[in-house]
Amino acid sequence: MLDKDQDKMLSRVRAAKQEGYYPYFRAITRSLGPEVEVDGRRLIMVGSNDYLGLTFDSRVAEAAEQALRCFGTGPGGSRFLCGNMSLHENLEERVAAFVGKKTSVVHTTGFLANLGGLTCLSGPKDVLLCDREAHASLFEGCRASGARVLTFVHNDPASAAGHLAKISAKHPEAEVLLITEGVFSMSGDVCELPALIRLKDSHPGTRIYLDDAHGLGVMGRGGRGTAQHFGLVRETDFVMGTFSKALASIGGFVASDDEDLMVFLKHQSRALMFTASLPASSAAAALACLEIIESEPERVERLWEITEKARRGYRDIGLVTGSSKSPIIPVFIGDEQYAFRFSVELFENGVFALPAVYPAVPRGQAIIRTAFMSTHEDRHLEFVLEVLDKLARKYRIRACDLETPDQSLAAAGQR
Ligand SMILES: Cc1ncc(COP(=O)(O)O)c(C=O)c1O
Repeated sequence: MLDKDQDKMLSRVRAAKQEGYYPYFRAITRSLGPEVEVDGRRLIMVGSNDYLGLTFDSRVAEAAEQALRCFGTGPGGSRFLCGNMSLHENLEERVAAFVGKKTSVVHTTGFLANLGGLTCLSGPKDVLLCDREAHASLFEGCRASGARVLTFVHNDPASAAGHLAKISAKHPEAEVLLITEGVFSMSGDVCELPALIRLKDSHPGTRIYLDDAHGLGVMGRGGRGTAQHFGLVRETDFVMGTFSKALASIGGFVASDDEDLMVFLKHQSRALMFTASLPASSAAAALACLEIIESEPERVERLWEITEKARRGYRDIGLVTGSSKSPIIPVFIGDEQYAFRFSVELFENGVFALPAVYPAVPRGQAIIRTAFMSTHEDRHLEFVLEVLDKLARKYRIRACDLETPDQSLAAAGQR
């Protein structure tokens, strides 16, 4: 039996489906990277996290196939017991070296890496101080840790500093883990890492946990991540990342220079010990991607080239895109239902991009999340810009249609 709130939610889903503006769970029948097919129709994909377009690289597919033939389709158990493969250990070594850390622990997904990482790196006496717009997996990890959880204003080091001062005064014995994302998954904002790291000077003992799911393969020299981008790898205590985005696979890791702590994590993470390990084909695909990224830095360069072209195109249309500094460029809509309708119309016009609504973004600040890939050709972008221009005029979401960007968000619901 559903309770009242669950029933309400279900009614909203049913109404959206009946009225034709339900945008989620679209079944892709064939994927070709920057283009996908849905029910025989070809669409331009501008929502994928396959930033370097490696999902369709034949070398990656071959490595996955070879591993599958050698190790089988499933892992046969958790890493702790019978499912630990040499591939996992190679991957731990390679990815740690890639992000500039001594060692890492691979989990089956990025979500599980955050869950396992945060529960093992903190205890009930500690404080987890987390950016308010952090990913759900970080909040799940915070919750499961049993530590005191506080949030600071999104990407605002001054807000984090205020919390740290209060924590020092009230709980001087508490260890603080400051949690942020390198590139925020919805807004595309890049974190203020230098300012956050400087807080360690006035609050010694504070450690930094950087979820770089969207920075890996994207930010820094050759895609080595956000900490590398700022030259702050050593100062960033923990770098977490996933293989499910630029590394065209699935899986996640936590990397650190503290080797003892990583051994502890490996033996204490319930999210690692009590779930099946990463299948061999996925581990081999991630390894192959690392090799390609290292030898072909031009992929990262192309990603930034197409991203900057897109950003200029959005600006010329007059879209409100917030403060994104990455290949994730949100188009602000405001009202949730309006964003659903906008996404459905994008779809009907040949563009696959989805809305993000609360709790993925703050309430009333729905966006269409667009993201670019190095394999997007200029003709793909031109098509997307043409459609966005047409719909932005129709939906009156351009900055010039709105009195102020803030009002735009509030007013969107009343159109
Ligand atoms: C910032 C962030 N962290 C963690 C994850 C979880 O990663 P995975 O999809 O590998 O489980 C995601 C996935 O969307 C993410 O965006």
